[in-house]
Amino acid sequence: MSTQSLYSVPADIAANALVNNEQYQKMYQKSVANPEDFWGEHAKRIDWIKPFTQVKDTSYDDQNLYIKWFHDGTLNASANCLDRHLASKGDDIAIIWEGDDASEQRKVTYRELHAEVCQFANALKAQGVKRGDVVTIYMPMVVEATVAMLACARIGAVHSVVFGGFSPDSIASRVIDGKSKLLITADEGVRGGRKIPLKANIDEALSRPDVTTVESVIVLKRTGGAVNWVEGRDKWWHQVTDAAATDCPVEEMGAEDPLFLLYTSGSTGNPKGVLHTTGGYLVYAAMTHEYVFDYKPGEVYWCTADVGWITGHSYMVYGPLANGATILIHEGIPNFPSPARLGEIVDRHQVNILYTAPTLIRALMAEGKQHFDKFDGKSLRIMGSVGEPINPEAWRWYHEVIGHEHCPIVDTWWQTETGGILITPLPGATDTKPGSATRPFFGVQPALVDNEGNILEGATEGNLVLLDSWPGQMRTVYGDHERFVLTYFKTFRGMYFTGDGARRDEDGYYWITGRVDDVINVSGHRLGTAEVESALVAHDLVAEAAVVGYPHDIKGQGIYAYVTLTKGTEATEELRQELRQWVRKEIGALATPDLIQWASGLPKTRSGKIMRRFLRKIAANEITNLGDASTLADPSVIDTLIESRLNRA
Ligand code: WT7
Repeated sequence: MSTQSLYSVPADIAANALVNNEQYQKMYQKSVANPEDFWGEHAKRIDWIKPFTQVKDTSYDDQNLYIKWFHDGTLNASANCLDRHLASKGDDIAIIWEGDDASEQRKVTYRELHAEVCQFANALKAQGVKRGDVVTIYMPMVVEATVAMLACARIGAVHSVVFGGFSPDSIASRVIDGKSKLLITADEGVRGGRKIPLKANIDEALSRPDVTTVESVIVLKRTGGAVNWVEGRDKWWHQVTDAAATDCPVEEMGAEDPLFLLYTSGSTGNPKGVLHTTGGYLVYAAMTHEYVFDYKPGEVYWCTADVGWITGHSYMVYGPLANGATILIHEGIPNFPSPARLGEIVDRHQVNILYTAPTLIRALMAEGKQHFDKFDGKSLRIMGSVGEPINPEAWRWYHEVIGHEHCPIVDTWWQTETGGILITPLPGATDTKPGSATRPFFGVQPALVDNEGNILEGATEGNLVLLDSWPGQMRTVYGDHERFVLTYFKTFRGMYFTGDGARRDEDGYYWITGRVDDVINVSGHRLGTAEVESALVAHDLVAEAAVVGYPHDIKGQGIYAYVTLTKGTEATEELRQELRQWVRKEIGALATPDLIQWASGLPKTRSGKIMRRFLRKIAANEITNLGDASTLADPSVIDTLIESRLNRA
């Protein structure tokens, strides 16, 4: 093993861990040599109503593609997260909740959570929600968001959580695609001391003439702020639940029945509805949560992700609760009201495992170590990172300042589509290298291929693919199976293509280098450049737009837009601000362009195709070595763009 910058597994962690390196090697070998036996055995961690007799039934042949796991078994996800814990840990804390304002605190036991979920499930039934219906959830980070998800799972409804930072238009397109009849929201959310008008956003989304399916909206009273009310359609959460029974039988679901939809951006078109099913997803989320975080009963586990993202689904709700963990939910942002907040929460609740994103670490780093002078942090044992590549500098800061140089860091690589973590260290087994996601989890077979799809061996760099299925994999794009096959299985036949590039070093460790498609990653949030472009060109004064990512100190990638205005339009600073606000309103704050460069022309081939590699380089301020511009219709465009580039860092 090459030793430059290697962090060995601490001896005390290795001694007590679920798996050490030797066990990892053995289990990994078994998992890929005989997936049937391996997963058949590990799927027993979940309670099945009717046990499965089939384990793996999958084909990556793009002419005949299917993915099924445990498909003749039946189960219920909510029963696995709640009911089965009642006898042994009914009085244990399931959720510790801390408000945006730290004076608001709440603790919920498994028994209480079970009762709340049952009540809400009964309320949903009373509103006419049936097995298979899609329910849209647009909620702040409150306990009730988890209650809503588990209540859907309990009655076999399919939840579709929309991140609370998305705009009315983004809500509308998801509601339309899911043909949702019922929406769950709150009057307002609270984040960083500010109120978020959730109900008002819902009203605006539902006022669009093309949103026709919604019959009811259930509204949680979070702040008591004034809301508009549509009689007959809108109902208060407390009114529909107060009289509801605290007991609700679970619906018996097939392993391959849908559990949820979650929309995510791709390189083209509208966000896709990623469909996850019940059995394989739950087995995979629970197993990875336990092994990757070396979770021990009684430990307090805090994932800072919002429930609107896949991390919130798999590693705040389903994985940890299926394992009977105590989870911490924080309503606000971990650097408000000051950068000390993260440390205060860890100390206040004696958090043992912390799972967060590089963008937050970089933001804290920029504010300085002094905010952690009073931080004790002795409760912390394991720390995770997710969402984007973590730069070694941020890794080391996380290790030293938050982890007191004793907590192993698990840099977990995965995607909305993968349902759970695929490449990651295991705390007791894997020596870590800052910036590397290291080795595959059990049953995961990564490979690197060249652009023709040839598998590359040894230390090399290429496109990251997966050679075989794992239980947590998405099953289809909701309502568009062809798009599923086309997006993931046609680029390299017989393999799942991740859209990421990666390097493998001489120790077999993977280093994710970032997206190789037109997807950008802003603060760990995924965006299609095409989505931002279509928002921009929807503005009357914009003739054409091209959007790329560029390196950003805190966000990882920032959004850089090249905009050509319609003839005669004056390029003013006001217009630039207006366009930023416009995109924010069309998609959501996370899509706001950081830089907008006025471009009289874009680099196009003679056939009219925009050559994005030039735009990426100019945005990154890499202006030497731009490459061959001779195929451009007008090569002089490049010089003009370079001259007025906005990033000179
Ligand atoms: C994309 C998936 C997985 C939940 C959060 C994001 C990037 C994710 C890492 C990591 C390097 C990472 C990839 C991936 N990514 N984790 N540890 N190291 N890159 O889910 O929104 O579906 O985005 O995030 O580019 O493809 P997502």
